Amino acid sequence: MRILSGIQPSGKLHLGNYFGMMRPAIELQSRGEAFLFIADYHALTTVTDPQALREATRDVALDFLACGLDPERTAFYRQSDVPEVTELMWLLSTVTPMGLLERCHSYKDKIAKGLSPNHALFAYPVLMAADILAVQADVVPVGRDQKQHVEVTRDIAIKFNNSFAPVFKIPEPSIREEVAVVPGIDGQKMSKSYNNTIEIFGDPDAMRARFMRIVTDSTPVEAPKDPARCNLFALYRLLATPAEVEALAARYRAGGVAYGALKTELFERWRAYFAPMRARREALARDPGQVEAILRRGAERARAVAAKTLADARRAVGLS
Ligand code: TRP
Repeated sequence: MRILSGIQPSGKLHLGNYFGMMRPAIELQSRGEAFLFIADYHALTTVTDPQALREATRDVALDFLACGLDPERTAFYRQSDVPEVTELMWLLSTVTPMGLLERCHSYKDKIAKGLSPNHALFAYPVLMAADILAVQADVVPVGRDQKQHVEVTRDIAIKFNNSFAPVFKIPEPSIREEVAVVPGIDGQKMSKSYNNTIEIFGDPDAMRARFMRIVTDSTPVEAPKDPARCNLFALYRLLATPAEVEALAARYRAGGVAYGALKTELFERWRAYFAPMRARREALARDPGQVEAILRRGAERARAVAAKTLADARRAVGLS
């Protein structure tokens, strides 16, 4: 089974990204033949500062490698290192009805948020279809917000296959259900746009201060508390073993949990949990040549498949 997913470089990795997106993406390598790429062409639809794009791309590569992505098992690459994707996109565009793209929620949402409606933003799902179809992926794990784009991909592939020749495998979306919504320090869903994040590789002193600011209710220490309604408990759950989680839940119900001490404990757990990854990230950051070599090797693997698909597609439409 061939599995493909793409990730947009998007700033500093935080607990919400790590548990919601990154860990599941890394685990794909044990489920089949995994392809994972950094969607830098897609990022161009929103990032307009070249240096910021370079840094975000480098950061996301370091983050994934530090957090356990094994580049021997997963073909890990930059989208823009696989130019077959953009050529394929043109061929796919010719069978993509305008109406199909006009119905895409994510395009409408972005316009509603004030992004200028340029062609790349509109054609975003066709580029995504090219990513997926180029490598003949069977399964595409995505967040719920991207499900429609995988459905568009299927429609495009079916239309192409019917119009010309059966070139493309029809992929299935696999929706990442949120295992747990990770709350931010203000109790809303953790998100960069709410400025409520706790970064994975952030400066420890700055992060300690963030932990101390996590919003809690005002029940006295000795009062029994409901663990299900506490942000600290929800974060603890991510960083502790099931037995530890059970033990803390019992302490909540019995009364006697002091939020201040628990915040300090959470901070220490955060530090210990990510310490090995932080060390790996620092070592990799000192060796950019190694990261570059990994991404190039990943791109070679992706290109080997994409070149064959593209040749078949070109022949099917009459370009060769
Ligand atoms: N659009 C996806 C996102 O924002 C990223 C992406 C680009 C992608 N191409 C893809 C995901 C192909 C899966 C398959 O999350």
